[in-house]
Amino acid sequence: MKFIILFICIPLAYSEKQWLNTTYTEINGKTAAGIPEISAVTTLDDQQIDYYDSNIKKLIPKQNWMKEFASTELWKNYTDIREKLLNIYKNNIYVIKNTVTQSQGVHRYQRMYGCEWDDETGDSQGFDQYGYDGEDFISLDLKENRYNTSVPQASPTVMKWNKNRAQLTFLKQYYDYECVYWLKEFLKLWKADLKRRAPEVSLLQKNPSSLVVCHATGFYPSGVSITWLRNGVNHYKDVKHGDLLPNEDGTFQKNHTLNVSPDEWEKNNYTCEVEHQGKTIQKNLIKDEIKSNYSKLLILR
Ligand SMILES: *[C@@H]1O[C@H](CO)[C@@H](O)[C@H](O)[C@H]1NC(C)=O
Ligand SMILES: *[C@@H]1O[C@H](CO)[C@@H](O)[C@H](O)[C@H]1NC(C)=O
Ligand SMILES: *[C@@H]1O[C@H](CO)[C@@H](O)[C@H](O)[C@H]1NC(C)=O
Ligand SMILES: *[C@@H]1O[C@H](CO)[C@@H](O)[C@H](O)[C@H]1NC(C)=O
Ligand SMILES: *[C@@H]1O[C@H](CO)[C@@H](O)[C@H](O)[C@H]1NC(C)=O
Ligand SMILES: *[C@@H]1O[C@H](CO)[C@@H](O)[C@H](O)[C@H]1NC(C)=O
Repeated sequence: MKFIILFICIPLAYSEKQWLNTTYTEINGKTAAGIPEISAVTTLDDQQIDYYDSNIKKLIPKQNWMKEFASTELWKNYTDIREKLLNIYKNNIYVIKNTVTQSQGVHRYQRMYGCEWDDETGDSQGFDQYGYDGEDFISLDLKENRYNTSVPQASPTVMKWNKNRAQLTFLKQYYDYECVYWLKEFLKLWKADLKRRAPEVSLLQKNPSSLVVCHATGFYPSGVSITWLRNGVNHYKDVKHGDLLPNEDGTFQKNHTLNVSPDEWEKNNYTCEVEHQGKTIQKNLIKDEIKSNYSKLLILR
């Protein structure tokens, strides 16, 4: 109940449907040295939360809140279940490889599994799909609790997999309950992380003669006030307000550009003041504070 209240207070901008997707990709054939044979990426909505590959052989958390989660006791539960799902994948791909008549060259096997959850209706739905060279190959029908396919070549594999009732029962349990449990758990951690995100403030300049931008990013919630001060007094003139923009991780960014000559700001004390959630951050406009090479910085954010 607590979670639902939290969620209504902090709605996501894009949709009511939340996704937890894991995609395995296996390339087999001649690949460059060092490229792992199997790799897996898990996304929560469109944010990557973990990574695995057959070279490193362990699950790497992405995002700060996921890294924090990795140091809690529940992490073991999560990695244990991921390992079971990985083993199912390995066994199944092995069968697929022996079924399909392979031509020479590089072949790509994929499995996308996960669940969606509608926070308005509370409905959830699992999915588990195998693809071969970019085409749908076999998918799990969770209503009938069996695999099926529309590709004739895949029929023997489907028949084989459908005999493994223990695996099907495990998967049904996973998609009906555990997957949704993790999806909600991760959303909770993500939102809690967003709640305490203070802005990072930088003064940016493309080159020494261009305008100075006061750039605040990575903050949540979106309410922010950016002010340029001239010798301690609010300076509204010569200031261009940027729009509030969403970042990929759910935080926001905004900027105010100061349109005065370097001559003018070198002779006076210009300060950018950013207020967020009752806290104030100030940056004095002096040469040393300015990041001139900021295209890299913006991409990093
Ligand atoms: C997750 O998988 C579903 C079902 O295949 C797909 O519609 C959705 O676009 C995927 N979401 C992401 C973020 O990949
Ligand atoms: C974590 O896994 C252990 C052992 O399988 C289990 O007893 C425990 O209930 C799990 N905890 C949660 C919150 O799922
Ligand atoms: C699986 O079977 C269901 C009906 O049982 C059907 O609606 C669905 O299209 C089938 N999927 C594939 C991939 O053939
Ligand atoms: C400032 O904000 C605007 C949106 O109003 C954006 O287009 C521009 O790229 C931003 N500039 C910097 C340096 O972040
Ligand atoms: C700018 O601030 C410094 C101290 O921070 C002060 O010594 C100086 O007089 C100020 N300059 C102006 C023009 O206000
Ligand atoms: C930014 O700095 C790096 C070195 O730190 C340099 O390689 C790159 O060319 C610079 N980019 C711009 C746009 O100045």
